[in-house]
Amino acid sequence: MSAHAGILRRYGAYLPITEATPLISLGEGDTPLVPSTRIARELGCAALYFKLEGCNPTGSFKDRGMVLAIAKALEEGSRAVLCASTGNTSAAAAAYAARANLEAVVLVPASYVALGKLAQAMIYGARVVVVDGNFDQALDIVRELAVRHPLTIVNSINPYRLEGQKTAAFEVCDVLGDAPHVLAIPVGNAGNITAYWRGFREYHALGRATRLPRMLGFEAAGAAPIVRGEVVRYPDTIATAIRIGNPASWQAAVQARDESGGVIDCVTDEEILEAYCLLASGEGIFAEPASAASVAGLRKLVREGRLDLRDQIAVCVLTGSGLKDPDRAMKVAASVIEVPPTASAVEAALGWR
Ligand code: F0G
Repeated sequence: MSAHAGILRRYGAYLPITEATPLISLGEGDTPLVPSTRIARELGCAALYFKLEGCNPTGSFKDRGMVLAIAKALEEGSRAVLCASTGNTSAAAAAYAARANLEAVVLVPASYVALGKLAQAMIYGARVVVVDGNFDQALDIVRELAVRHPLTIVNSINPYRLEGQKTAAFEVCDVLGDAPHVLAIPVGNAGNITAYWRGFREYHALGRATRLPRMLGFEAAGAAPIVRGEVVRYPDTIATAIRIGNPASWQAAVQARDESGGVIDCVTDEEILEAYCLLASGEGIFAEPASAASVAGLRKLVREGRLDLRDQIAVCVLTGSGLKDPDRAMKVAASVIEVPPTASAVEAALGWR
């Protein structure tokens, strides 16, 4: 099978597809599992890997679920798809809808969608509606609209989304030869932690993995409904992808945590940004801030003595590319040096003479 056959061809046997399902693909899946150097040493674990989901065609893990949701929408004769999004879902929906010649309508919260994500939805040709509210409100509107209009919802309340997303857990097992001992993942609408857990359980049941990982999910401290045990009406965090106060897959995420003997905790924006910078300058990996929550969370649990990673294989899911949110990088990175166009001016600015 060619390397970029996509997840429908590669994992079709594990997915709810039929002979009538069009096997569309933009080359999603088969993302790198890159070993950590510095952070692994800091945490004292046997091995730490980063699952680089930013290497998917639209730069986030959303492509895995979207390719199946769009394929099923085509199979069912849908003409248009609809979603609410903090940005990545809308980028993926817009891209796969363009590929499948479907209309896409995306609702995004005003002021809190990273620039790259908005640009993607626009250039792929979706109709972008900016809602003067937050993600939770936009998702409520989507549910209401789908009752009155012939549209397919492609948020993760569409069951095909999580089915597609579970393939990331399959890939982790296929590459490692088994499941890791722990899996750290950011939590927003709580679909992805649910999908990974399903994937690990299915592979385990089929004998393709000998163990099940502990699922460690991390919300942002200002948007941590699961940790607090109540809806957060005004969620707030610089990790805009997970700025969510009432996750759709709340119960399923709690179940993944409990069944796996895991933890759902939260990390502050400061901890997220520290991990974000450390990943980039210490590992050469540019992930978006929400993705860095998985690394921030793992560091927090180890620092607080709540997690001992000796002899353990850990995987951190880095859900989206850092290029999605260039504004954040520009704000936190060291500034550039400007000089006149001579070698001596460059030398002087760099302190080389
Ligand atoms: N990381 C990134 C980069 C995301 O875009 C999201 C969710 C998450 C993590 C959290 O995943 O919702 O399954 O718990 N983004 C959604 C969106 C909400 O609209 O793009 P989750």
